[in-house]
Amino acid sequence: MKEFSIVVNEKEHTVRVHEDTPLLWVLRDHLKLTGTKFGCGIAQCGACTVHIDGDAMRSCIYPISALGESKVTTIEGLSTKNDHPLQEAWVKHDVPQCGYCQSGQIMTAAAFLKESKNPSDSEIVEAMSGNICRCAAYLRIKEAVKTAAKS
Ligand code: FES
Ligand code: FES
Repeated sequence: MKEFSIVVNEKEHTVRVHEDTPLLWVLRDHLKLTGTKFGCGIAQCGACTVHIDGDAMRSCIYPISALGESKVTTIEGLSTKNDHPLQEAWVKHDVPQCGYCQSGQIMTAAAFLKESKNPSDSEIVEAMSGNICRCAAYLRIKEAVKTAAKS
């Protein structure tokens, strides 16, 4: 066990865990930030996506010891009032079905839209293709990303 100081959603936390503990479990079990979900645990589904220094990363395979000084943002820290353009577009398009994959979808889309201001449909589909939705809400996800990109 080792002590790590980490910055999550602009707040500093100290946690005592094994070096190879995935960031996902630090977020969920130690910091009680349960918006980030466990799906596959092998970087295949995207349910655990968070931002590390602004880049979308899969927290299920990201060991806490690799974080260093990097800053983490989870769905809880994406906006202060749930008013990120993607969150508003998600409501407008009534995207979620069961909801399980949704925080990962939004975090992937948020990182994508920072780099791609006016994406085409195919660019959105490509960017989101690594995030699985077992409810198959893919069309609404695409429309919501388009709406957020325009706002
Ligand atoms: S739980 Fe991390 S990619 Fe599936
Ligand atoms: S909304 Fe159910 S898995 Fe995506």
